[in-house]
Amino acid sequence: MNIPAQRVLVTGGAGFIGSAVVRRLVRQGRQVLTYDKLTYAGTLTSLAEVHNQPGHSFLEADICDGTAFRAALAEFRPDLVMHLAAESHVDRSIDGPGDFIRTNIVGTYTLLEETLAYWRGLDAPARGRFRFHHISTDEVFGTLGAEGLFREDTPYQPNSPYSASKASSDHLVRAWFHTYGLPVVMSNCSNNYGPYHFPEKLIPLTILNALEGAPLPVYGKGENVRDWLYVDDHASALDLIATRGKLGESYNVGGNNERRNIDVVRTICAIIDRVKPDANIGPRENLIRFVTDRPGHDARYAIDASKLTRELGWVPAETFESGIEKTVRWYLDNPGWWEPLKARYARQRIGLAT
Ligand code: NAD
Ligand code: DAU
Repeated sequence: MNIPAQRVLVTGGAGFIGSAVVRRLVRQGRQVLTYDKLTYAGTLTSLAEVHNQPGHSFLEADICDGTAFRAALAEFRPDLVMHLAAESHVDRSIDGPGDFIRTNIVGTYTLLEETLAYWRGLDAPARGRFRFHHISTDEVFGTLGAEGLFREDTPYQPNSPYSASKASSDHLVRAWFHTYGLPVVMSNCSNNYGPYHFPEKLIPLTILNALEGAPLPVYGKGENVRDWLYVDDHASALDLIATRGKLGESYNVGGNNERRNIDVVRTICAIIDRVKPDANIGPRENLIRFVTDRPGHDARYAIDASKLTRELGWVPAETFESGIEKTVRWYLDNPGWWEPLKARYARQRIGLAT
């Protein structure tokens, strides 16, 4: 049995999924260094729970800065690096792919180079324990028709600048394993949702707009399908993969919760009408607006996570119904987290490639 790493460096730990991972690891009593540039998507308020905990420290730094990362490795001496830092929003990648190329590809390359040098310098037992876990997305596989699931051996066919940059980073990580022997594990996950999700993404955007009675933009006909996973279930999967996953292998992570976008939006409307009715706004469904489709919009994502369940025993705790109810209630209870973030994103349509 593998012993969980005790010293974990988490890149992107001030973001949505990264902060869920950091909170989980600190609760377990592990020593965690969050390494994050604090872009528009990162905020220390997502780490309020671990702030001042002896098990947690924070470093504001860029993953493209090799010198800063080298110093962080030398000082913190991790036995596990979990790499989540990325530019993550597809619509932004359509308007400005440069940041995605830089952070997701050059940044990952920089981490690999510095981590390899660090790993080579460890003594034999520490070298044997060390792992680099690259966290990626199901979007690298492209799009599905009505049938089928993404498996670990599905060919890569990324369609957006975001997914192409993540596919590139996956290939680099794999190459550093095969060529240099760096001990890596990889994972590709479907759409996450839950607390601390930056409000430019579909689910939190819909929640916040519905609360204030603003239009709810649904791209195209709303028939695109995503496979939704509650963020803490992703964090539990990442913990297992990082600790017990086979070196050089990748694991698909998904919740078996396929939903059409329009159904997700209607579900959120119904919950908010029930828990926060507003006579001036009326039924939230009336706020739905079908808008111009996303260029290159992938039709359907759906994950086969059976390898993760079979080999590592992972099962998600939330259904979509339980997770979305929790999520809506969390946003209702936590305006102090999302209110300041409203200034950080264009509250109008982006990503039209015009
Ligand atoms: P996010 O946008 O919420 O957070 C990204 C974090 O990375 C932020 O804290 C940001 O400040 C930091 N960051 C960005 N550029 C950086 C840089 N150059 N140097 C250091 N830090 C930087 O993203 P997320 O949704 O939490 O996604 C985390 C990871 O998981 C990403 O790699 C993403 O591709 C992957 N992923 C996301 C989903 C999803 O549904 N959100 C699903 C599968 C995989
Ligand atoms: O599949 C995993 C990916 O899921 C992650 O790798 C990405 O980092 C993450 O952002 C997410 O990508 P999506 O493009 O699927 O997420 P987004 O929330 O942007 O959109 C979800 C779906 O909703 C998608 O089909 C586009 C649609 N959409 C989105 C927005 C923002 C709308 O219809 N209206 C909107 O306003």
